Formats: sequence, C-alpha cells, structure tokens
Amino acid sequence: MLTTSLASLRLRNPVMSASGTFGSGWEGRTFADLSRVGALVSKTVTLRPRHGNPPPRIFETPAGMLNSIGLENKGVDWFLADTLPKMKSLGTTVIVNIGGEAIDEFVVLAERFSRAGVDALEVNLSCPNVQEGRLLFSTEPRLTEQAVAAVKRVATVPVFAKLSPNVTDITAIARAAEQGGADGITAINTLIGMAIDWRRRRPVLGRGIGGLSGPAIKPVALRMVWEIARVVKIPVLGVGGIRSAEDVLEFLCAGATAVQVGTAGFADPALMVRIVDELPSLLAAANVTLADVRGALHAAPAAAPAEGCARAGHERVRG
Ligand code: FUM
Repeated sequence: MLTTSLASLRLRNPVMSASGTFGSGWEGRTFADLSRVGALVSKTVTLRPRHGNPPPRIFETPAGMLNSIGLENKGVDWFLADTLPKMKSLGTTVIVNIGGEAIDEFVVLAERFSRAGVDALEVNLSCPNVQEGRLLFSTEPRLTEQAVAAVKRVATVPVFAKLSPNVTDITAIARAAEQGGADGITAINTLIGMAIDWRRRRPVLGRGIGGLSGPAIKPVALRMVWEIARVVKIPVLGVGGIRSAEDVLEFLCAGATAVQVGTAGFADPALMVRIVDELPSLLAAANVTLADVRGALHAAPAAAPAEGCARAGHERVRG
C-alpha cells in the first residue's frame, strides 16, 4: 500500500532519512528496525577526509537547529571499506550522498559508488557550511547542470540532485538539474542562518553562520517542493521539518514522490519507522490512498487545492 516508485527504484514506502542527520543508519539500528524505512541516505561522503568546521557546530533554535558541521567525514576509502557494508546490512535501499569541491571529484565518487553497488546517489550541490561557498554548485544553473551531467555520464544508478533554498528562484536550478539528466531532485537543504551571543558580542557557531533545519523551515520547503514539482517531470524528494505522518502527506500533496526525515530524528531516532506505521491508518481514516494525495495540489484546478488535501484529512492546509 505504501510502495513507492522513485526513478528506477522500488521503495517499500516513501519515508527515508535525510543526509547528515542519521549517520549511515548504522548508528540508529538499535532504536528501530531500519529495514522498514523506504531508504537510508548517508551523510555526505567526500573524496578525502574532512575535519569539518570549528566548534560549536550545532545550536538549537526555537523551532529548529543550526548546524555548521562542514562535511566532516572520513572520506570515500573509509566509507567503502567500513561503512557501506554496514549500511547494506540494514536491509533497505541504500542511497549515498556525495560531495565534491570540483566536478572531477563528484565524477570519481560516482564511479566508485556505482561500482560498489549502492542503489542510488544523492549529489550534494548545496552544503552551506564550506569555505567561500565552493560547494554551492546549486546557486548557479549552469554549474548545477554541468555537475549533474558529469555524474550521470559515469553513474550506473539513479542520481538525485540535492538543491539549496538559498537562491532567488529554485525552479531555475531544478530545471538545470533535470536538463543535466538528474533522475530526481531533493529539496531542500538548509537555509543559511545565524545565532548571536550578544554578551560575548560573538556569533554562537564557530564558523559564524550555519544551516537552519527543522520545523521552522517546513513552510519554505513545502513551497519550494510545490514550485519545483510544477516545472520538472522528474520526481521530487521533499525534505525540511518533517516530523509526523501528517507532514509526510503534506509534502506528497505538494508534489513530492518521497520524503526525507531529518532534524526530528536527532531527538527521536525511531521516528521514521513510527511514521511508516502511522501512514496507513491516517490514509484509511481519510479514505484515500497515497496515489490520491501525491501531487494533488497539481492535479486539481487552481481553486481546488485545499479540497485535494482536505480529502487526506489535512484541514490545516486550508489555512
Ligand atoms: O555542514 C554540513 O556537513 C552540512 C551539509 C549539508 O547541509 O549539506
């Protein structure tokens, strides 16, 4: 009933982890049976190890969290030898998120992970926490297209492009990713933000700025997923502030094919599986299927979106 087709993948359900919030999944295995989630998405893996940014790197905000991790990871060699086998043993679809400072690095990573038998790649074009924005391919349509096209030339598995909300028009970037051959768009990464300790007259985070995630960004993420789904034919993976089955259905209504649970998983590592458990009864109570909800805002005429969502019991959308 929850089975979801995503590019050439067939997922058990549309609920997966968001990169950078759940390790490789291995760390969360004692909290829930992770074979029950649609997919696990790894923290970004880079070619070489990265130490990340100076601490503090995490700060809780009233409705979310700022992070400035800086893509800390042990690099591809370590990931392939140590982490990937563990991730595969968890019994669900494995998506590896890759990050590069240059297109050549994305290409090497895509080649190596394709060969290693991952199920899909998520290309992180949008990390806000690196020096001089070097990794921010997704602020430029041309660079987005080039990076995705280069990865697609060597990848033998579906490629999803993870985009930044820190742009004027995310639809232009999404179109560029589609043009480059992306099999799907992940939207959105974090919004660049800041916290200040006025007593010390200092920013709270070691790097000064960071990426905001959590419930605070959900309305922005919903809007961007909705905008992207209107202009591309490839599937959209919705992410941003999801913490309930209700939230999942809102994203599907906005046009997402699948969703990623991120920040909420820090407080509750079993949340994804609970959401999977709750979805069938929520749908049954509204007498609808996933197919009725998915993209309902787009299928319905302009005046009817609230009705489409209300059928799924989403009275809040009427706003
Ligand atoms: O800083 C980080 O590692 C975050 C990465 C991201 O938001 O893509």
